[in-house]
Amino acid sequence: MSEHVPIEPTILYFGTPVVLLSTENDDGSANLAPISSAWALGYTIVLGLGADGQSAYNLARRPDIVINVPGPHLWKQIESLAGVTGRFPVPESKPAGMRYEPDKFAVSGFTSQESVVVNPPRVAECGLQFEARVAPARLGVTGDFLIVQAQVLKVHADAAVVIAGTNYVEPAAWSPLIYNFRHYFGLGPELGHTYRSQTPR
Ligand SMILES: Cc1cc2nc3c(=O)[nH]c(=O)nc-3n(C[C@H](O)[C@H](O)[C@H](O)COP(=O)(O)O)c2cc1C
Repeated sequence: MSEHVPIEPTILYFGTPVVLLSTENDDGSANLAPISSAWALGYTIVLGLGADGQSAYNLARRPDIVINVPGPHLWKQIESLAGVTGRFPVPESKPAGMRYEPDKFAVSGFTSQESVVVNPPRVAECGLQFEARVAPARLGVTGDFLIVQAQVLKVHADAAVVIAGTNYVEPAAWSPLIYNFRHYFGLGPELGHTYRSQTPR
């Protein structure tokens, strides 16, 4: 076994999938924000969201959301949204250099696609799209981020990642975009599957 050393990294992003949140602004336009703090429990998706951002502002007023899940090939478009906020004026708590951008679709080049059960649009390029509604959120222990629970109402999947004629995603066809210590990765080759996998094979 290798030796472990104590370190104090500035961030602890050990590799989680990136999702792209669509929420509705006061004027009915859409805000887009990439986040990597997202995980699923059944049809509930838990999100970690900065309390000072436009996404948090929108969700406190209008609970509809689309959780769009991009593949690795979309990393540059995701990164084009890293330095912008839909919040005006830009909160002082945001990282230095962050600028206000009201049209996130234009700046990223993503394509807006009408949703079926919620108001904010889906992002057409994302292989998985979850239309959802959030419950009132709680602040996390440090007070600067919100723990948001989103109840998924409708799932859309690119036909190319679905096992035809089933409700199953083909794990060999689907790959999330992984945020790994502030660097972007895709998945490596499959290692195996859990005993609970029901994927037809
Ligand atoms: C790959 C990536 C992952 C991110 N993860 C998170 C996250 O988990 N939670 C969060 O609040 N912000 C995260 N951010 C930062 C937000 O995208 C950023 O604060 C943005 O300004 C939010 O936009 P908004 O203020 O319009 O909602 C991430 C950014 C990138 C590029």
